[in-house]
Amino acid sequence: MSADTAQRPVLVVDFGAQYAQLIARRVREAGVYSEIVPHTVTAADIAEKNPVALILSGGPSSVYEEGAPALDGDIFDLGVPTLGICYGFQVMARALGGEVANTGLREYGATDAALSGDGGVLLGGQPDTQNVWMSHGDQVAKAPEGFEVLASTADTPVAAFGSAEKGFYGVQWHPEVKHSDHGQEVIENFLHKAAGLAADWNSGNVIEEQVARIREQVGSARVISALSGGVDSAVSTALVHKAIGDQLTAVFVDHGLLRKGEREQVEQDYVASTGVRLITVDAADTFLGHLKGVSDPEQKRKIIGREFIRAFEKVQLDLVAEAKAEGEPIKFLVQGTLYPDVVESGGGTGTANIKSHHNVGGLPEDLDFELIEPLRTLFKDEVRQIGRDLGLPEAIVGRQPFPGPGLGIRIVGEVTADRLEILREADAIAREELTKAGLDSEIWQCPVVLLADVRSVGVQGDGRTYGHPIVLRPVSSEDAMTADWTRLPYDVLSKISNRITNSVRDVNRVVLDVTSKPPGTIEWE
Ligand code: XMP
Repeated sequence: MSADTAQRPVLVVDFGAQYAQLIARRVREAGVYSEIVPHTVTAADIAEKNPVALILSGGPSSVYEEGAPALDGDIFDLGVPTLGICYGFQVMARALGGEVANTGLREYGATDAALSGDGGVLLGGQPDTQNVWMSHGDQVAKAPEGFEVLASTADTPVAAFGSAEKGFYGVQWHPEVKHSDHGQEVIENFLHKAAGLAADWNSGNVIEEQVARIREQVGSARVISALSGGVDSAVSTALVHKAIGDQLTAVFVDHGLLRKGEREQVEQDYVASTGVRLITVDAADTFLGHLKGVSDPEQKRKIIGREFIRAFEKVQLDLVAEAKAEGEPIKFLVQGTLYPDVVESGGGTGTANIKSHHNVGGLPEDLDFELIEPLRTLFKDEVRQIGRDLGLPEAIVGRQPFPGPGLGIRIVGEVTADRLEILREADAIAREELTKAGLDSEIWQCPVVLLADVRSVGVQGDGRTYGHPIVLRPVSSEDAMTADWTRLPYDVLSKISNRITNSVRDVNRVVLDVTSKPPGTIEWE
């Protein structure tokens, strides 16, 4: 079902903190395929997956906490090279006969770790002292027998240990976070040197593997795919098209809430680069009709979601009828589900539910289709790379996240054609200037919001104006769960502001949102 059958993975055991996905990404960045499993796995489960190595993630602050997640101790008898990180390090220490002291002391944030001896395979060659990121309560007071202490800090006598003989290593700090100086090197030393793994996985292998898999799954049946203009659906559709060509039909619903140039990007550039058969549904008037007089954000979302389903169902019925007449029914639907969606929905096995919070309010849930999800094992940056390898335009592959309900949730107040036009122009200017300044990779996304229900006095040209403010909401984030506002250079902000107020009608003010998430969400709605 996923790349795991072809490849023996590094398994990252998730103890419930947010770090497991980050660790899995870092392992892949080191050229080794990885998957995440919950800490409830048994030694038998692990043996069945036949991993090349294990990494135990961070977790709660104390192994002594009530209900602290445990691990099947037999896992350590499987003879698989293992790296324990933070909580995983302590779990490992305890299971192997070391001592974890319930000190009640906390070590948090940037800390100096000093190498003990030559640092062993894990830390060898690194500076005597390095800055590492800590977040723990208890500490390992004594390494298990046969283990060498590899580093310590002022408060933690055993901050890293290892047994070359067993291939077991552990660090108290978080090597997966960028704040740890030699973090990636620690992970790579474990993978390449301690576990002897070659750096031979990359997202390029996935294309070939998925093409073969999709052909086998689909046979001669027909497939449909909903394109949203976003990265995930663009790449999953292109991958399926590469596998089965014109057995696939892509459907793009233009709900009138798209950004400037987006429809053209899909209809022209995307089609030119993939050759995919595309049907565009022109539904802007219908959507706007239903949104008339509605200001409440939840109601807007509901309407957009509902109308999207209606529009999609209409084409789908036509396509199903056409396919039936031609003797090859439509049996499959392409979904751009990514690995974080799979992990967050609790699993990895079985068929995923059609995600309703993504894309345009979700696809109908009662469609009688089997899903094709070629990106199920991948992270976003890997999906982008596959898109590039497939020759998709950078403007699509490099796109920042954009909500399914589109500009509909970036107008505070009623959504009208006129207001959409204003917002589209302002948004295009902001995007153009950010790209020109080379800032795209620094920001996660930059919503541009029209406060349609607010007016303020201004002076433009010869007279007073009474126009609307535009809000810029540039944010930096790893996963959109939390975010900080991006400190954009003043000259870029100034350029955006000048251009918008000079050329976008009815806008006489540009303001900057300097709120982190939480408390503010990324979108204003
Ligand atoms: P918030 O506003 O909740 O947004 O901080 C978090 C991330 O989710 C995106 N977002 C959506 N994406 N459909 C989507 O596909 C939606 O309805 C939706 N609402 C918010 C938002 O752009 C940000 O990246």
